[in-house]
Amino acid sequence: MSKIAVVYHSGYGHTQKQAEAVRDGASANTNDQVDLIPVDDVDEHWDTLAAADAIIFGSPTYMGGVSAQFKTFADKSSKVWAERGWHNKLAAGFTNSSSQNGDKHSTLQQLSVLAAQHGMLWVPLGLAPGNNSSTGSVDDVNRLGSSLGAMAQSNADQGPEHGPSNSDLETAKLLGQHVTDLANRFSQAQAA
Ligand SMILES: Cc1cc2nc3c(=O)[nH]c(=O)nc-3n(C[C@H](O)[C@H](O)[C@H](O)COP(=O)(O)O)c2cc1C
Repeated sequence: MSKIAVVYHSGYGHTQKQAEAVRDGASANTNDQVDLIPVDDVDEHWDTLAAADAIIFGSPTYMGGVSAQFKTFADKSSKVWAERGWHNKLAAGFTNSSSQNGDKHSTLQQLSVLAAQHGMLWVPLGLAPGNNSSTGSVDDVNRLGSSLGAMAQSNADQGPEHGPSNSDLETAKLLGQHVTDLANRFSQAQAA
């Protein structure tokens, strides 16, 4: 059994849908404990993060990087950084934005550097790129072709009831599942 925490910010609900999909994927196996933590509530959940085997970070892409609210959480985590509290935990990340590209990669890089600063072990998405051939389509998982983490796109003029797309939510689910699988393998290896 592993403990997974999904810590995310969402200004308008789109990234929250992606976070919920990551949570659903991570908890596909009912033995695992998965906590979904909005960054605004993080002060009540530092103990949950301390106990987690893996922390999955999520933020919308705002102005080519993480949102100010997510950055506030990242800066607050410097206290944990000073104590090496998250050293050797698994980490992964996801982001959502309105443009197909939208500089989402910059956000994932920021999330992976945050994890590296903490001495965490970054888990990449692990899926081949979709929608990149004559037989591909926007319904493919990883249709946005990311390696570092899960990406999603939501139209700027529509609410979270319209986006991200099912393929992006499926991609998010697979990221959550992948992290839980690795966390379980990792704890079994440590126990052996
Ligand atoms: C302040 C701000 C900055 C944004 N910057 C970007 C950006 O750099 N790239 C992009 O594709 N979309 C950008 N967007 C659009 C959001 O990423 C998009 O609306 C996203 O779905 C919002 O997610 P949320 O509902 O979880 O907040 C920006 C939106 C806001 C409010």
